[in-house]
Amino acid sequence: MTEPVIASRLHGIPPTIFTEMSALAAATGAVNLGQGFPDVDGPREVVQRAEAALRGGANQYAPGPGVPALRTAIARHQERHYGLTLDPMTEVVVTTGATEAIAAAMLALVDPGDEVIVLEPFYDSYPATIQMAGGVRRPVTLRAPAFRLDVDALRAAVSDRTKLILLNSPHNPTGTALTPSELDAVASIAIEHDLLVVTDEVYEHLTYDVPHVPLATIPGMFERTLTISSIGKSYSLTGWKVGWATGPARLVEAVLAAKQWLTFTSGAPLQPAAAYALDEHGDWPRELAADLRVRRDLLCQGLRSLGLDVVVPEGTYFATTDISALGWADGDAFCRALPHRAGVVAIPTQGFYDSDAGRMLVRWAFCKRPELIEEALGRLAAADLHA
Ligand SMILES: Cc1ncc(COP(=O)(O)O)c(C=O)c1O
Repeated sequence: MTEPVIASRLHGIPPTIFTEMSALAAATGAVNLGQGFPDVDGPREVVQRAEAALRGGANQYAPGPGVPALRTAIARHQERHYGLTLDPMTEVVVTTGATEAIAAAMLALVDPGDEVIVLEPFYDSYPATIQMAGGVRRPVTLRAPAFRLDVDALRAAVSDRTKLILLNSPHNPTGTALTPSELDAVASIAIEHDLLVVTDEVYEHLTYDVPHVPLATIPGMFERTLTISSIGKSYSLTGWKVGWATGPARLVEAVLAAKQWLTFTSGAPLQPAAAYALDEHGDWPRELAADLRVRRDLLCQGLRSLGLDVVVPEGTYFATTDISALGWADGDAFCRALPHRAGVVAIPTQGFYDSDAGRMLVRWAFCKRPELIEEALGRLAAADLHA
């Protein structure tokens, strides 16, 4: 009997490295500094709100674009933090995490053959969803060790097939927070070539000593920018998968048009609780960032004292090291050996590049309790990290 041929738009997309490395951590008992999820949950009162919503009967389909209380809270959040005034009914859509907003945006806005400019290293759902939409990615590399935007490379990446720029700031995995002048450059290129921009700002509140500037606040950009964020990183509730997209009504409508055939609607009991978090615990993300800053410094100093070249991130909860000095062929080989050698898991970033620029780079997450970071550093110090 012949097997049916599976030829799909997903062809050639490898499984996410996080599944593999988290399984390796579990199998070896390693300290997992791989996947970016905190090991302490967000505000207890917010979790209690979700519990109350479950008990109170919020158990059937929510409206497709999201419950009005959450859409309104998201609009208020954008106004309070960035001075962006949104109509919650037409300029905000709730999604199942930022992940669904990204996928829906690509499916809605990218036609087969369209080119999408994307910062490299990319968050791993970007290439997958661009490919699902039939689009073609055009990477612009953020190069170590500074990981700044190369404006000339961005300009050179534009062609007559370019449909949109997919931006991420603060940027995972490099920790770069784009500066107002870098954003101005993106804006002038987008306006000159009449491009849309989709900007993933899930780490908007997790910056250290630098402000987060949404691209949509740059003059002339609101009309062409779809801004994506979620509750997961800001409130240490990554498992909730409550996200959103905001922007001009026609872009939000496009996301909704795709979303209605993906999930139709997102988790009803979590939405009022997410609204409560945004409205009533507005300072929580800032406190989280202050706390993460200490953990960032603990991890970065520890890694540096092991002889690794460390890039200290301006945002997110990841630090990147260059492991060239240790004699390994690449970061992938290093990360596969690390759980066995040292009992620690980290993520090779080369899988997030089309080019070779990330071959020797390794990402370490610091959204873990300080004791765990210290435990990982102790294990690394006791191990032979050379090839
Ligand atoms: C850059 C970036 N975008 C999106 C996501 C996913 O967000 P969510 O969990 O809200 O789907 C992540 C999670 O790691 C991320 O790092």
